[in-house]
Amino acid sequence: MEHIPALEQLRAAVGVIERYCAYTPQVGIILGSGMGALTDAITDRQVISYADIPHFPVSTVSGHAGALVMGSLAGRYVAILQGRAHYYEGYSMQQITLPVRVLRLLGVHTLIVTNAAGALNSAFAPGDLMVIRDHINLVGMAGANPLRGPNLDELGPRFPDMSHAYDPDLCTLARNVAQKRAIPLHEGVYVCVAGPSFETPAEVRFLRLIGGDAVGMSTAPEVTVARHAGMRVLGVSGISNVAIDQPASERVTSHDEVLEAAKIIVPRLTELIRGVLGELPLP
Ligand code: HPA
Repeated sequence: MEHIPALEQLRAAVGVIERYCAYTPQVGIILGSGMGALTDAITDRQVISYADIPHFPVSTVSGHAGALVMGSLAGRYVAILQGRAHYYEGYSMQQITLPVRVLRLLGVHTLIVTNAAGALNSAFAPGDLMVIRDHINLVGMAGANPLRGPNLDELGPRFPDMSHAYDPDLCTLARNVAQKRAIPLHEGVYVCVAGPSFETPAEVRFLRLIGGDAVGMSTAPEVTVARHAGMRVLGVSGISNVAIDQPASERVTSHDEVLEAAKIIVPRLTELIRGVLGELPLP
């Protein structure tokens, strides 16, 4: 039986965080590889190391800081997960998604999820942004769904709907903000793979064939848990590399390439997220 985080575990984490922070965060943000600089724009900042929060998984990957940053951004109270743990690090799907459930219990109703991803769509280039219209959770479909095991009825239903996993209104808002600020923004389908090895060229061609525009090793489990708990989700991929689809190619994919592209992605993403936050209709 999978280890499902008990409500008591979630509440223990919530209790510690509430001791640091007097207000209720409205929006949660998860930052992808190398995107930590987005938290520089936060005011009234409270930083809590994951190591100090009960049951929070700590990422072992460079580019992932491992801190919950709370404060104010574009007039909204935000809770930012700076760094995430991944399935490939050896954590269970339930462990890597625990922070999202904790955000929900803290009061977060809207989640902005970011990631670094490889381009499958040939129109995309490193440094580009893609708003996620939908995802294919290959890992989840193969059995590793974070909701596997007893359902936490207090958070959501046994069989949550995923037909609007990425909120259409938030996608439209992101598109409008991008247009107004002249930030180039693609739109597409994110495919979640387990990693940590990058894809073979045959796998890249397969992922394109099934409808993927970008590929990465995160996000879909977090979004599944967020939707289960009724959160609205906006997803944005920063394209860090072009996935290599031909064995004859002389290029290779590396984590350094991913971190390098983040330097171009972060300023654009920061501006996009600030713009979205500023115009976000609150329920
Ligand atoms: N494949 C999978 N995950 C990734 C990639 C990629 O090419 N780039 C960044 N994360």
